[in-house]
Amino acid sequence: MGPLFKILMASIFVAYIAVKWTAPSFDPESLRGARVLVTGASKGIGEQMAYHYGRFGAKIVITGRREKALQQVAEKCLSLGAQEALYIAADMASESDPDKVVDFALDKLGGLDYLVLNHIGSTPFSMWSGEVDHVSWLMKVNFFSYIQMAWRALPSLEQSKGSLVIVSSVAGKMPSPFTAPYTSTKSALNGFFGSLSHELAMKESNVSVSICTLGLIDTESAMKKVRGITKMPAYPAAEAALNIIITGATRQQELYYPWFTQIITLCKDWFPSATNYVIQNSLNYNP
Ligand SMILES: NC(=O)c1ccc[n+]([C@@H]2O[C@H](COP(=O)([O-])OP(=O)(O)OC[C@H]3O[C@@H](n4cnc5c(N)ncnc54)[C@H](OP(=O)(O)O)[C@@H]3O)[C@@H](O)[C@H]2O)c1
Repeated sequence: MGPLFKILMASIFVAYIAVKWTAPSFDPESLRGARVLVTGASKGIGEQMAYHYGRFGAKIVITGRREKALQQVAEKCLSLGAQEALYIAADMASESDPDKVVDFALDKLGGLDYLVLNHIGSTPFSMWSGEVDHVSWLMKVNFFSYIQMAWRALPSLEQSKGSLVIVSSVAGKMPSPFTAPYTSTKSALNGFFGSLSHELAMKESNVSVSICTLGLIDTESAMKKVRGITKMPAYPAAEAALNIIITGATRQQELYYPWFTQIITLCKDWFPSATNYVIQNSLNYNP
């Protein structure tokens, strides 16, 4: 290991510790009675977020397409301590459902303190082979519905000094094979909400924007896709969910979970060829 490499690694470590120490501290009480809308909460990370918000005593509205699953999650939220737990079934590929969901939450909760945009449409983990219609549909679900809901909720978030939380992926910062449609939607989210965040700050808005970059998380849908194809470790959905909630509650602009996803994205910029080699060789693929 050369001295330059050691200095680089030590600098990254020191910078990481400094960032962690100066991060604002989280007060769980700040979420008691908070009015929260979580999308994609019938399973996976969204479901885990709903349970955490329930434990913190929030008032929540959850959404997804499957009514029965939403009902079960809402019941569990109440048993964990949620002050309110309501659900509305909606398809984010529809033109009108994103607005309908926000209006439902505003009406039932009397406003919003947190809008947590987390849902994703299903997409294959495979080589791109020209499915343009699928990309267009996925853009509707994973991107257009996000900006539609954010715009609808902004006036209420402005009033409540609220937070907009966007669940994104390391794929949006660092393209990898087998995920072209998904990666496009996550890159679009990073670009749009990164830009919006500047504009809100320039307007001296009350609303904070948090963009959460996640690595591989052990949800059923993710594991089903990557099992046998990648050797990357998967991290627990409940912990990812808690980190997202804390990032929103402390009004931080960014989350990287697990922590090393930030280092990986930096490596991509600093050593692109080496990073590409590692990415391509970390996947089982026989042409
Ligand atoms: N898991 C990972 O490895 C990983 C890694 C990086 C980033 N992330 C991000 O984390 C977030 C959650 O991922 P996850 O793994 O928890 O996903 P998931 O388990 O597949 O859950 C997706 C959620 O979205 C809902 N949904 C799917 N299609 C929908 C549609 N057309 N309209 C409305 N809702 C729809 C699903 O509910 P219904 O089926 O009831 O509609 C479900 O509640 C996503 O933004 C994802 O990009 C995940």
